[in-house]
Amino acid sequence: MAIRTLISAQEIADKLADMGRRIASDYVGRDLLMVGVLKGAFMVMADLARQVDLPVEFDFMAVSSYGASTQTSGVVRILKDLDQEIAGRHVLIVEDIIDSGLTLNYLLKSLSVRRPASLDVATLLLKEGIQRVPLEVKYVGFSIGPEFVIGYGLDYAGLYRNLPYVGVMEGDPA
Ligand code: IMP
Ligand code: MG
Repeated sequence: MAIRTLISAQEIADKLADMGRRIASDYVGRDLLMVGVLKGAFMVMADLARQVDLPVEFDFMAVSSYGASTQTSGVVRILKDLDQEIAGRHVLIVEDIIDSGLTLNYLLKSLSVRRPASLDVATLLLKEGIQRVPLEVKYVGFSIGPEFVIGYGLDYAGLYRNLPYVGVMEGDPA
């Protein structure tokens, strides 16, 4: 199986530096809580947060939507909830990729009832045109086509999360 580079490590770094600067200027003077969605967002979270020149707090949620398949099931399970209360906090959800939008839609619903002061989303990748739910995503790194991508946190059957770039699998997955 070959992997074709779709977005290079350098392109990702440049984009996250840009996004980090925007976030820092948008949230200046507010207590920002960045919420990473595990497992996929761990790499975006680490690299993006280092580009946000503000005192930032972190938390993580773990959700599962796909199992080992490459197709969305529409079923979202919270495997790990936030450690802290978010009432009155400025919450920024950090995602690796938004595909159908079902996962994010579910997260936004379950977090907004906890009355955060603000609730917004930053994602590295947005699959253009196939969102099944209308979503407002404040910070988008790259819009991509409908192909299945791996690397930079994104997995196929649990593998390839450690690739430093975003790639597309070509040929039979092995
Ligand atoms: P959604 O609920 O369909 O928006 O899918 C969200 C989750 O599915 C993401 O957070 C990923 O974990 C996973 N996912 C969606 N598309 C891809 C992909 O192309 N490669 C790897 N994982 C993906
Ligand atoms: Mg994810």
